[in-house]
Amino acid sequence: GITRHYTFDVRMTNVSRLCGTKSIPTVNGQFPGPKLVAREGDRLVVKVHNHMTHNVSFHWHGIRQLRNGWADGPSYITQCPIQGGQSYAYDFVVTGQRGTLWWHAHFSWLRVHLYGPLVILPSRRSSEGYPFPSPHREVPIMFGEWFRADTETVISQALQTGAGPNVSDAYTFNGLPGPTYNCSSKDTYKLKVRPGRTYMLRLINSALNNELFFAVANHTLTVVEADANYVKPFTVDTLVISPGQTMNVLLTAATSPASQAFAMAVAPYTNTQGAFDNTTATAVLEYAAPTRPPSSNLPLPSLPRYNDTTAVANFTTNFRSLATAHYPARVPLAVDRHVLFTVGLGTDPCPSNQTCQGPNGTKFAASVNNNSFVRPATALLEAHYRRRYAGVLTADLPTAPPRPFNYTGAPPNNTFVAHGTRVVPLAFNASVELVMQGTAIQGAESHPLHMHGFNFFVVGQGFGNYDPVNDPPKYNLVDPVERNTVSVPTAGWVAVRFLADNPGVWLMHCHFDVHLSWGLSMAWMVADGPLPNQKMLPPPSDLPKC
Ligand code: C2O
Repeated sequence: GITRHYTFDVRMTNVSRLCGTKSIPTVNGQFPGPKLVAREGDRLVVKVHNHMTHNVSFHWHGIRQLRNGWADGPSYITQCPIQGGQSYAYDFVVTGQRGTLWWHAHFSWLRVHLYGPLVILPSRRSSEGYPFPSPHREVPIMFGEWFRADTETVISQALQTGAGPNVSDAYTFNGLPGPTYNCSSKDTYKLKVRPGRTYMLRLINSALNNELFFAVANHTLTVVEADANYVKPFTVDTLVISPGQTMNVLLTAATSPASQAFAMAVAPYTNTQGAFDNTTATAVLEYAAPTRPPSSNLPLPSLPRYNDTTAVANFTTNFRSLATAHYPARVPLAVDRHVLFTVGLGTDPCPSNQTCQGPNGTKFAASVNNNSFVRPATALLEAHYRRRYAGVLTADLPTAPPRPFNYTGAPPNNTFVAHGTRVVPLAFNASVELVMQGTAIQGAESHPLHMHGFNFFVVGQGFGNYDPVNDPPKYNLVDPVERNTVSVPTAGWVAVRFLADNPGVWLMHCHFDVHLSWGLSMAWMVADGPLPNQKMLPPPSDLPKC
């Protein structure tokens, strides 16, 4: 591989959307941020200069960062944030991965504006290129959210009042809301296609707090990759994508299209009882060589209802690894550690000097096994590397639920959570089976869980309570999909397996930023292996200090 250098100048820039202008953090003045391209095996050096007064750090979402957590990016986990006026070079090699990933800020909620695609092409040595016919063109499409309000206002509203989050005012395609919103016709994303050609859409859900349905009127979508792992191709009219997930889909343009243009649309999938942004954003698929001018009112593709959990479950069961000799599914067959986590919302008592707007006058919180994760004041990875844990870690996180859960009956009386910087230590190369059970304490809601440092295999999932006797025999250990983000279904569970072959400290969290801030997070602390090439690399000299 070769070394590719990128520079990220992070500064505040005025951007206008929805009839208003606000100053937002940007990379090199661009929103969304620049597309990074590499080949499998390449080394990437991204030099970040923070010209803001605000802290920042960047995460290369889905990159495994083997032995090299120093480049992973979550603030206070693998590094202290890059303070205003400071610089840091993220230096990493893309090993054994190819496909669509993305990068985003990993400090507070800054990723609402700071995100971009990270495209990894197959290595030149792999003669076959893609395991499907090469598309005519490849196009990244990032879904996002736009808030009219200033981001600080949105964050403090969610963290201080104890209520649900301020909802966004629009969804976006590559930063553009499109004609369903006021003042936005000029801010419409357009994809131009030629009749009969096939396009690969590199879809990325970079929205803050919403899973999304996506469809293109009169066109089907063939899914070929999920989270930078090839899957057995399957074709759908509508797909669902969770925040943090990426998906490559093939779209073949009609040879004699019924119209010159068609609408593409995204709308939320949610079961949240409270308010959410229930708007639909549109973009345009436009054929070259116009036969007649496109009508200004394109018919929308039909999307499932916002709470259509059946549609989501039907879509999700389609995913299978390619599992060929060339792209084997390396799912661990034996398990060393069984871990069961409850994931969901809970509450905190309201501080006496405050009025809280959460359930029964409490403050919302979120937890893993009833622990709401507390961000430490210094980076966990450095503490781990130097074996200096005192004052940084609270205790180990329990690997079985400390309280009974039952999503089907009444929620447990006591929904209050404990708080701590709790991690699960793992031996090097331990093979782990992790079952994540949604608790639905505050109404049924799904949680897109993202793991740093690893991909995992999704071996099973279902609704209701996980059954340790009857569910495991039904696991798919042959061709389960390999991903880095999986949605724990509404009032259900999901089982994944992974091999702890990457020493370091790796965050796992809900990719809804509001749930992450409320504490739906934990970290795996993986020990070094015995061999020199199984140990963490030393920290870079420019690693930021807290
Ligand atoms: Cu894409 Cu820890 O996040």
